[in-house]
Amino acid sequence: MSLLFVCVTALRVCVGGCRGLTQLAELPETHQILRQTCRDYADRELTPVAAQLDKEHTYPRKQIQELGAMGVMAMEVPEELGGAGMDYLAYSLAMEEISRGCASTGVVVSVNNSLYIGPVLKFGSEKQKKEWITPFTTGEKVGCFALSEPGNGSDAGAASTVARLDGDEWVLNGTKAWITNSWDASATVVFATTDKSLKHKGISAFLVPMPHPGLSLGKKEDKLGIRASSTANIILEDCRVPVDNMLGPRGAGFKIAMQTLDSGRIGIAAQALGIAQASLDCAADYAHKRKAFGAPIGKLQAVQFKLADMALAVESARLLTWKAALLRDSKKPYIKEAAMAKLAASEAATLCAHQAIQILGGMGYVTDMPAERHYRDARITEIYEGTSEIQRLVIAGQVLKEYQL
Ligand SMILES: Cc1cc2nc3c(=O)[nH]c(=O)nc-3n(C[C@H](O)[C@H](O)[C@H](O)COP(=O)(O)OP(=O)(O)OC[C@H]3O[C@@H](n4cnc5c(N)ncnc54)[C@H](O)[C@@H]3O)c2cc1C
Ligand SMILES: *[C@@H]1O[C@H](CO)[C@@H](O)[C@H](O)[C@H]1NC(C)=O
Ligand SMILES: *[C@@H]1O[C@H](CO)[C@@H](O)[C@H](O)[C@H]1NC(C)=O
Ligand SMILES: *[C@@H]1O[C@H](CO)[C@@H](O)[C@H](O)[C@H]1NC(C)=O
Repeated sequence: MSLLFVCVTALRVCVGGCRGLTQLAELPETHQILRQTCRDYADRELTPVAAQLDKEHTYPRKQIQELGAMGVMAMEVPEELGGAGMDYLAYSLAMEEISRGCASTGVVVSVNNSLYIGPVLKFGSEKQKKEWITPFTTGEKVGCFALSEPGNGSDAGAASTVARLDGDEWVLNGTKAWITNSWDASATVVFATTDKSLKHKGISAFLVPMPHPGLSLGKKEDKLGIRASSTANIILEDCRVPVDNMLGPRGAGFKIAMQTLDSGRIGIAAQALGIAQASLDCAADYAHKRKAFGAPIGKLQAVQFKLADMALAVESARLLTWKAALLRDSKKPYIKEAAMAKLAASEAATLCAHQAIQILGGMGYVTDMPAERHYRDARITEIYEGTSEIQRLVIAGQVLKEYQL
């Protein structure tokens, strides 16, 4: 496990020298070691238990703690604050390998990294970073991100949870929907409006510990996939937090949410990539072993064409994901590429999971093989952190900007 830390040190030496688009062809050695470490961990500790965690809706507590010890739960957080001090390319590689083993574990990792820590790291004061990042480093606590509401998901600017100032406290009222990690979390970033008349410009972000008076959880959603992660409403009824718990300036909440999602999408792209790769692995392996009409089905061109399309989708989505991560790491604009990566990778996951079931035939349809779980897990990547329709709007918006007269 300490391998990751060897890797971190090497990474730091490497930063500046070996960063660049050449990484799209071949990863630097440090990143290769990191990828192999996560791959080995997933093969050993995630793949063998993923079906059971899914079936029993069990939160992967032990695995999350082990990943925490490896540095994977707070990858971008500087070492001074208790994190691993790595870059986003490293995070994407870790997310892909973990999700290849268990996509539910992948989403728990992604929400703690990109959705919870991300905004605190970027917009938090030094005091907030110490209070809301460092004490969590025992590896036992995860955070969540509460933006969506029952009445508005894609239209997040319409969020109508309210925050009213009362002396030196903010009083939060409203219901947040679909919150990943909520049943297992120790803190959440909540988006609430401090001034309704300003619409999305009236939204602010707040840090709320969990549990907390005035904060309660709805039922655990019974989901199609990623069933080992918890998803539930967060209900706020006169939930009081000190004024110091506002994250970033008043009215900056919508901007914080959108920037958080721009980054988060790279992590979801990597999660989708992991699911797509796992589907391809499973199908290609089966194509060698299964015989029909006296020969392995991998000899049939109909099966070969499916495998070719799957490999093509995986490889193209991977290049886009790495490119988005590299742009972010080199502090260049990456909004368009992050949306493209998420869109391409989630569609690759859905395609690969669909075709894997076809290649496995009857065995694709039963829980003895992982293909049906991949199929169920893949679907969410086209919905959360912006649906595929929303990604297309983001991409088109950027394209039109580039061609502005
Ligand atoms: C398992 C799970 C986990 C989640 N985790 C979190 C979380 O941790 N935190 C959080 O805040 N949210 C979370 N979400 C919420 C998720 O981000 C939303 O479900 C998603 O953004 C879509 O919103 P919606 O469900 O309200 O759908 P709607 O916005 O009602 O969309 C319905 C349909 O209309 C389409 N549509 C909407 N607007 C447009 C448009 N302008 N142009 C074209 N098409 C459009 C959508 O693409 C979709 O096909 C999670 C959801 C799920 C299912
Ligand atoms: C989640 O992130 C926090 C904040 O950096 C970190 O301290 C914590 O260890 C992470 N959670 C787990 C379970 O590792
Ligand atoms: C957003 O959703 C909530 C219910 O969750 C609803 O009360 C509110 O009216 C919606 N906002 C808008 C602007 O439609
Ligand atoms: C919050 O809602 C409760 C009812 O659930 C109401 O009594 C209270 O006045 C509301 N507070 C704010 C700040 O809007």
